[in-house]
Amino acid sequence: MTAASPHHDLIVFGATSFVGQILVRRLLERFGTHGALDWAAAGRSATKLEELRRSLGPNAARLPLVVADVEDEGSLGNLCARTRVVVSTVGPYALLGEPMVKACSETGTDYCDLTGEVQWIRRMLQRYEGAARKSGARIVHCCGFDSIPSDLGVHFLQGEALRRFRQPCPRVKMRVRALRGGASGGTVASIMNLVKEVAADPRLRRELANPYSICPEGYAPKVRQPDVRFVEYDADFGAWVAPFVMSAINTRVVQRTNALSGQVYGADFRYDEAILTGRGLKGRMTAMGIAAGLAGFMVAGAIGPARRALERFVLPVPGSGPSPEAQRKGFYDLRFLGRTADGRSIMVKVTGDRDPGYGSTAKILAEAAACLAQDIAKCDKPGGFWTPATLFGDRLIERLQAHAGLTFEVIEA
Ligand SMILES: NC(=O)c1ccc[n+]([C@@H]2O[C@H](COP(=O)([O-])OP(=O)(O)OC[C@H]3O[C@@H](n4cnc5c(N)ncnc54)[C@H](OP(=O)(O)O)[C@@H]3O)[C@@H](O)[C@H]2O)c1
Repeated sequence: MTAASPHHDLIVFGATSFVGQILVRRLLERFGTHGALDWAAAGRSATKLEELRRSLGPNAARLPLVVADVEDEGSLGNLCARTRVVVSTVGPYALLGEPMVKACSETGTDYCDLTGEVQWIRRMLQRYEGAARKSGARIVHCCGFDSIPSDLGVHFLQGEALRRFRQPCPRVKMRVRALRGGASGGTVASIMNLVKEVAADPRLRRELANPYSICPEGYAPKVRQPDVRFVEYDADFGAWVAPFVMSAINTRVVQRTNALSGQVYGADFRYDEAILTGRGLKGRMTAMGIAAGLAGFMVAGAIGPARRALERFVLPVPGSGPSPEAQRKGFYDLRFLGRTADGRSIMVKVTGDRDPGYGSTAKILAEAAACLAQDIAKCDKPGGFWTPATLFGDRLIERLQAHAGLTFEVIEA
């Protein structure tokens, strides 16, 4: 559609999606167009892309647009030929994401996305890791709220533990202390698709229950991983805890980081996540309410008619999500407690200043994509499937603190 720049640093594929539009606004605010980061917006509809560009105002008048459709392999090849990095928000990834991962892996184009779909990541690893290694493409899934605050939160904690105690923490707990935010239609569609896939294939349930399911083939430490599945009292935090829905992906990513980095967190590293609900009867009842609500949602999602009723009457539809005001008013506060083998402990706090799923996720993804394009040389990190912590590490923490409203700090040691 545009001949303005034949080769970009970055192309946003899925720019007209709910989260893609927030991402594009963020990139424009942060980098302008044709500046230090030369980027373009891509999607399947030329009309929607032009509408999006108009809605962004005069600063976006020269924003290059690229049309590409996951059903047209040639268009994905053309897109890859025009950029060094693709950031994709075309989801549910398990339904729509594979052709772009394939195209990037085969052409040596770096790639990052927002998937939280473990079963799909596993499939992509099995199918394209060899090609990515050969072509030099660095593929990084999970570059949103799931799983960057968790993956980099643990990375930060372990770095501080090594500095202060000269040893890592083989046991780390992440607890959500506060969180405000809503879901978009695209995220709900991704969760519903996962529930449907599990209902249709019981083997998938076993695969999802494996804490090392996205670790390299054959990686299976003989360590029983903790998992808050219902309601528990957590004596370390002096509070009741309930299951945290994102732990299903975050814990897998953190374990993959440990596996890829030669077990720097320890050969017997144990990690779980949960939501803190407070003390006493009130805390316990709140935890029970969250656990029951989550279980009810999963059961309803697995039953065809109930799922259809939820999708039709209750849940947001694809393309919709929290209002700009709700995104601004959102926030999160996560606590990471690490304990060394000889009993010393460290507490880290990670916060974000927007709703986790959209306002904060878009800023995190913008920095991750820019980090991939500007900071991480191919000669330092070769092609393959990385995690955010193993590919970006401290460099992304610096960017997130400087530009994305996140904080990482040690609050007790
Ligand atoms: N990890 C996190 O923290 C996090 C946070 C937010 C979202 N997400 C994930 O991000 C994804 C997007 O979410 P969303 O709410 O923004 O979804 P959405 O608004 O439903 O957007 C889906 C996008 O896919 C595009 N698309 C559909 N079919 C296509 C095709 N054949 N070729 C090219 N593009 C196609 C759509 O294009 P049109 O615009 O032309 O319809 C749309 O832009 C979801 O998978 C969601 O789970 C993750």
